[in-house]
Amino acid sequence: MLRLALTKGRIEKSALQYLAKAGYDVSELDEEKKGRKLLFKVGNDIEVVLAKAADVITYVEHGVCDGGIVGEDTIMEANASIYELLDLEFGKCRFALAGIKGKNFYDGYGHKIVASKYPHVTKEYFDSKGIDVEVVKIEGSVELAPILKLSDAIVDIVETGSTLKANGLEVYEDVADISARFIANISRIKMKKKEFDTLIRALSGVVESERALNKEKSNV
Ligand code: PRP
Repeated sequence: MLRLALTKGRIEKSALQYLAKAGYDVSELDEEKKGRKLLFKVGNDIEVVLAKAADVITYVEHGVCDGGIVGEDTIMEANASIYELLDLEFGKCRFALAGIKGKNFYDGYGHKIVASKYPHVTKEYFDSKGIDVEVVKIEGSVELAPILKLSDAIVDIVETGSTLKANGLEVYEDVADISARFIANISRIKMKKKEFDTLIRALSGVVESERALNKEKSNV
């Protein structure tokens, strides 16, 4: 038996579709059926809990869940001791440095402030460039920070770019690509090698067939 933590919300639907395509019975998690429940059986071999992204990593790191599905953004921010076993190639987006359209973030020598829901990722990015910035943590709708002049820029997730556009902002530079990952607890992976092997093989098959399908679509 494997207990997996899945991220609620944005990537939940794709994660369940991938598990279904891999041959697992995810019917307990049907939108109409699931109600406010948070713990589900997925066939005979898997138990699934639904959790917020950062909590998925906490549960996996502490070993109360054997593995999980979570975005690379949360993994980068958490800096936890876990294994990333598979890039699931859905939930694709990117981290970007963005701000008011037409402005140059690097203009002038003044103290720069960057707002983000991801302070660790932001700090690491500027440290790697040897630039000292002040990072302000914001919990959501980070786009407001440069509009309200709290910050000179933001580091945030950009998917379609429509939130930036709707608020008069633009991408200054890309920071990192993001997608959903299958993660595992470091010691569980040894203890439950057979179970992990079976699941990862099945999910890898789905990733490959989806990749082929997308390639076909883009060639049409
Ligand atoms: C994320 C992100 C951007 C938006 C980007 O926010 O922080 O605001 O999505 O998507 P887009 O490029 O397709 O417009 P989310 O919806 O998770 O809400 P939050 O900001 O309240 O956390």
